[in-house]
Amino acid sequence: MNTASLQAFNTFGVDAQCSNLIKIYSEQDIYDTLLTYGAPYKVIGGGSNILLAGNIDATVLINEIKGIQVVDEDEKHVLVTVGGGENWHNLVLWSISHNLSGLQNLSLIPGSVGAAPIQNIGAYGVEQSQCFHSLRAISLTTGLTKVYYKEDCKFGYRDSIFKKVDAGKYIVTHVTYMLSKEVDINVSYGAIRTELTNRNIEMPTLKQISDVICDIRVSKLPDPLVVGNAGSFFKNPVVAEEVYESLLEKYPEIVAFPFGDLMKLSAGWLIDRAGWKGHSQNGAAVYKNHALVLVNDGTTSGGDIWQLAMDIQADVKAKYGVEIMPEVNVWG
Ligand code: EPU
Repeated sequence: MNTASLQAFNTFGVDAQCSNLIKIYSEQDIYDTLLTYGAPYKVIGGGSNILLAGNIDATVLINEIKGIQVVDEDEKHVLVTVGGGENWHNLVLWSISHNLSGLQNLSLIPGSVGAAPIQNIGAYGVEQSQCFHSLRAISLTTGLTKVYYKEDCKFGYRDSIFKKVDAGKYIVTHVTYMLSKEVDINVSYGAIRTELTNRNIEMPTLKQISDVICDIRVSKLPDPLVVGNAGSFFKNPVVAEEVYESLLEKYPEIVAFPFGDLMKLSAGWLIDRAGWKGHSQNGAAVYKNHALVLVNDGTTSGGDIWQLAMDIQADVKAKYGVEIMPEVNVWG
């Protein structure tokens, strides 16, 4: 046993301990680790979507597999294979500098490429699943390699097979995205359209869209390098139309969006309206500019942040009868 602190490896900055900490730079490093250290194993990419609520009784693998490589192309598309440990925003910047579209709306999302398919990251009307081609993963139990194509991953809103039946079973070594050589943009999200209009931009370039999104994110969301956080802490709850209608009667200003036959409620609005924005307890707080984001206000204990999350969850349930579920992975 080689106990180590995970404080530098989670964007909440929580000081939890793990049994062993191993940096993975290649597939060979994974085989060596599986042969050297016993189970259980856990994998961390950018550490930007986890809350370490306690110590981790496991060997933690830090995915540092790098590289961005064009592996195929035709007239319209390019297939790019990316190391799981590559920084997500670096990949977005790479795609923009090569004039390839698809990822620009996902600018400045903290985290690694290997983690992106796990929770199917999304922002401003786009999810990574739209450009996803396949991924390569190694089983942490058998050491065997498996390729998952898009249909295999069962992507949903902040969801995939890697959060369900295959949760915790694999380390993603490479992800392949299919990017478009034709400019293919989606600026339907209200905040982007407004900002482009403010800047008098009618036909935005990929770079201009990315710049607008970076500016919106910076204005609303805390920089994890400055204030510990993991982005949205909860998912926006999806409810039946009747549930939404009865809430609408009571709260005419409620924020919600159609989601298939259902309605997606803004968890940020629910938490904000319940009076939690800016609230701080035991060094854990609700971010002052966005109620969906919990921040580390000076604690090294993930348990304090988890307690705040549970208090908010219970209050939202009591006030609106709606269950909000964590979007971050809670460990320990
Ligand atoms: N709102 C409030 N009070 C708040 C925050 C939000 O009333 O304190 C209301 C506002 O009306 C706002 C609306 O909620 O217009 C929606 O807020 P926002 O545009 O920030 O979107 P969100 O639903 O809160 C989702 C993603 C974010 C992503 C943004 C933009 C989830 C769980 N979160 O947030 O993703 O950046 O949309 O696309 O779906 C993340 O997953 O970590 C993340 C940051």
